[in-house]
Amino acid sequence: MTSREGKPELSALLENLTVNETSFFRVKPQLEMFQKSILEEVLHRKQERRDWTLRIWSAGCSTGQEPYTLAIMVCDALAYYYLRNPLPFDMPVPKPLIPPPWKVEILASDISFSALLTAGQGVYTDAQMEPVDYTTRLRYFEKSADKYVVKQSLKNLIQFDFHNLKTEFLPQRNDIIFCRNVMIYFDEAEQKRLVEKFYRCLNQEGYLFVGHAESLFGVSTKFHMIHRNSATVYQRIEGAQ
Ligand SMILES: C[S@@+](CC[C@H](N)C(=O)[O-])C[C@H]1O[C@@H](n2cnc3c(N)ncnc32)[C@H](O)[C@@H]1O
Repeated sequence: MTSREGKPELSALLENLTVNETSFFRVKPQLEMFQKSILEEVLHRKQERRDWTLRIWSAGCSTGQEPYTLAIMVCDALAYYYLRNPLPFDMPVPKPLIPPPWKVEILASDISFSALLTAGQGVYTDAQMEPVDYTTRLRYFEKSADKYVVKQSLKNLIQFDFHNLKTEFLPQRNDIIFCRNVMIYFDEAEQKRLVEKFYRCLNQEGYLFVGHAESLFGVSTKFHMIHRNSATVYQRIEGAQ
């Protein structure tokens, strides 16, 4: 591990230690809650404050299906939002994915370099695309030989970066964090430390989504659990000690 050529060894070890299983639109009830309820509430709250930047972090993004799913859902939600509440000026042509004045930043991070490389390329097989309906394929993907490639306009919303969730300093000022099916591999003490860090990485009233087999029960009392239609999300409690 600490040999002179330690770096490749470290990355090989990390690859072996991590489970990269993921898919597009994983756990639909949770994503529906994200799009129809949480996103709507966050956009509304931010708009009232004239704060036009939305920051979402996919922590443990694996090969990219999760952050691309989130980007697609945000674009569709904003398009639908403006269908109901038209902008006070004409939309630029061609219509941008994110209507002005909104700025959407999706951070996608992982500890696996090879997963991050695949995520950044955004190239998926037919089998991987199975959960993606055809209107979504038409809007956000291009076909190259027998593969689907994420359109550059969607990729532009996402920044892929290396972050080890076990380290102290993690990305700040997030409105929503997705950390699904990652904590399950951490021991209890590490889970507690991570959730404490997530608390600090979220903006006021920010939300944390964890995997459907994961829970903050016994891990943290700093979040309020919201459970609706078979889906759960945790919201930061302000002033929690
Ligand atoms: C099972 S995948 C989950 C992917 C996605 N979040 C989902 O639910 O579909 C777990 C991911 O967590 C990453 N991971 C594991 N330990 C990590 C750590 N300490 N820091 C950052 N990422 C980590 C793995 O590399 C892997 O890509």
